Amino acid sequence: MLVQQECLGVICVFASEKPVVSERKLSLLETLSAQVALGVQNALLYREIREHADTLERRVQERTVQLETANRELESFSYSVSHDLRSPLRGINGWSQALMEDCRGQLDQNGQAYLDRIRIETQKMGTIIDGLLELSRISRREVTFEIVDMSSAAQTLAARLHEEEPERKVEFVIEPGLIARGDPRLLEVMLSNLFANAWKFTGKHKSALIEFGRTLIDGMPVWFVRDDGAGFDPAYARRLFGPFQRMHRASDFPGNGIGLATVQRIINRHGGRIWAEGQKEKGACFYFTF
Ligand SMILES: Nc1ncnc2c1ncn2[C@@H]1O[C@H](COP(=O)(O)OP(=O)(O)O)[C@@H](O)[C@H]1O
Ligand SMILES: [Mg+2]
Repeated sequence: MLVQQECLGVICVFASEKPVVSERKLSLLETLSAQVALGVQNALLYREIREHADTLERRVQERTVQLETANRELESFSYSVSHDLRSPLRGINGWSQALMEDCRGQLDQNGQAYLDRIRIETQKMGTIIDGLLELSRISRREVTFEIVDMSSAAQTLAARLHEEEPERKVEFVIEPGLIARGDPRLLEVMLSNLFANAWKFTGKHKSALIEFGRTLIDGMPVWFVRDDGAGFDPAYARRLFGPFQRMHRASDFPGNGIGLATVQRIINRHGGRIWAEGQKEKGACFYFTF
């Protein structure tokens, strides 16, 4: 049995009677041995590929475990750092408050202004730490998978936003009957961040439209939250999801820049993906799968 000049084996043919090996029989036997040789070669290749696949799978598993451990360590490190930073920060806040109350008169105008600045900066740092803790809480949480009525969650969130600012003219168009499988609490946090952003970044327009639904992109079902508000420079579309990344001035649109990072973590924890499209003053659309 020859395959590409390599001998894979030998076929012996035994006959009970005195054999008469005719040309025809010989050529039949040759075809047979060629076929068997190919079969054997296929089987050998298959075994080799299986072994490779097994090794690869084992390696992937090992790496995954290592990565998960490293991730957990990082998470718990960032959690305890943020947590521990709170108490000295509370100290700075408290002592500068004491300084302000008890010794304000001894400070000149400059001194008082510096003190005010210290307090503003510590408050900023406080919101950053709260943001970090919130993010790390999302990552440490167990994800449960349940059937979630996304349309009615969206309706509730929209109603809440209208209640908070009834004077605003914002129309919500929410596709009815949308069901998903995921963690109800986390999906609500996710949607509420996207809705709050859409609400906030349409705030400088007289009226606004916010849409929530599902569409097909390249044949794949994709969720979206779209608004016709301030939008953003598309060059920074990827950056938006980094913690504390903000494309708008705090004086125009207040915020701590942790919302989209939280949203992305939630989507990732559901095995999905999120991306954004936008144009300055032409609105933004956040697409996600999970
Ligand atoms: N709907 C939106 N329209 C325009 N820009 C947005 C929208 N949502 C998010 N962004 C941009 O992404 C940044 C990050 O969003 P986020 O993490 O929610 O932070 P925050 O809401 O605190 O500003 C925002 O500061 C803004 O620049
Ligand atoms: Mg936000």
